Amino acid sequence: MTAGQGAGERGRSDHCLATIADEVGTPFYAYDLDRFRERIRTFEDALADVPHLTCYAVKANDALALLEVVAAEGLGADVVSGGELAKCLQVGIAPKTIVFSGVGKREDEIRAAVEAGIRSLNVESLEELEEIADAARRLGRVAPVSVRLNPDVAGGGHEYLATGGGASKFGLQRAEAAEAFRRAAAEAALDPVGISFHVGSQLLDMAPVLAAATPAAELWRELERAGIRLEDFDAGGGLGISYGAAEPDLPAYVDSLAEIAGGLDATLVLEPGRHLAGPVGTFVTRVLHVKQAGGRTIAVCDGGSNDLLRPALYGAEHPIAVLAGDDREETQVDVVGPLCESGDFLALGRGLPLPRRGDLIAVELAGAYGRVMSSTYNARPLCAEVVLEQGSWRVSRERGTYDDLVRNERT
Ligand code: LLP
Repeated sequence: MTAGQGAGERGRSDHCLATIADEVGTPFYAYDLDRFRERIRTFEDALADVPHLTCYAVKANDALALLEVVAAEGLGADVVSGGELAKCLQVGIAPKTIVFSGVGKREDEIRAAVEAGIRSLNVESLEELEEIADAARRLGRVAPVSVRLNPDVAGGGHEYLATGGGASKFGLQRAEAAEAFRRAAAEAALDPVGISFHVGSQLLDMAPVLAAATPAAELWRELERAGIRLEDFDAGGGLGISYGAAEPDLPAYVDSLAEIAGGLDATLVLEPGRHLAGPVGTFVTRVLHVKQAGGRTIAVCDGGSNDLLRPALYGAEHPIAVLAGDDREETQVDVVGPLCESGDFLALGRGLPLPRRGDLIAVELAGAYGRVMSSTYNARPLCAEVVLEQGSWRVSRERGTYDDLVRNERT
């Protein structure tokens, strides 16, 4: 089930989700792998005329089932931890297509990345540059580095999603970035291969990225004049999806970026996460009971912000459907989870067909930053996951158990 479906299609997929709910229980995430492949291919088509490498931002959704599609489609990956790197290597994503852009990399994570022979470690400070050089020297290797520029441009659908502002923890200020390039060029254990930046996520207007791309291209040219020749111009991720408003125009964005990077003889690296994974996922939960309080109608569900944190954390408004509720009168409903937190909600005051006990609720556009931000708060095991592919479905992650909750604990 995905955004933009016709009524007939929607009816069929609702039926499928109801069958899955009966068999695996609730709550669960369902990912449409055909749709994921289609989004990847459309993205690649839009970039066909530009020398590029798409590095899927694994942080958006690191399910092995999705990563296998990423590998099969020949995409690279943007990772931010040793764990994400290990998962990518496990599914066979080529190391030479993996960029590592975590803001805080531990020494063992740096070592693993250098050993794996990834495309670039995206440097976040001068101290980190030293640490990478030390690790490379100890391993007798040359570490490819890309320097992350703090472009002093903020953008993002919520203040927590803006990462490019001057005082943000990400990247190096321009003068420091230039210094990092000089040091990397002078250090035998380092190879400066790229410049990177990422201004924020859930952008519906790509102007901030283009504003950041211009100084990045200037720095690239300045380095070239100083004899430092880079390969990758990495503009990060950030492409928003439509939780309500219109999505950015991908071909227009690619054209504008290509124009700025034009003449650099660069490989344009993009790190889309949400754009590829967001629309392919649906979170399904069951209504446990419906009550009235202070003039509000409240549907209490078995899945909440432990499973899908975005509404609570960012006030994100995901499209929601009450399955099989189409013929009911619409009313304003708070769709809430089972946690002992007033902030535990999936939607507040949403116009929906009046839910009833036992109904299934589908929260859409939940493929990105859903499962990856979930927790076992209130000792609720991680939910099940299923994938839909070519008209059938299968469980891709078993529901967590009470044993899982205590597996690594000692008293
Ligand atoms: N590259 C870098 C360096 C990033 O930090 C991010 C996201 C991406 C790429 C992918 O961005 P995307 O294409 O998905 O916008 N938890 C938040 C989103 C945080 C994004 C953090 N960085 C949410 O649920 O909206």
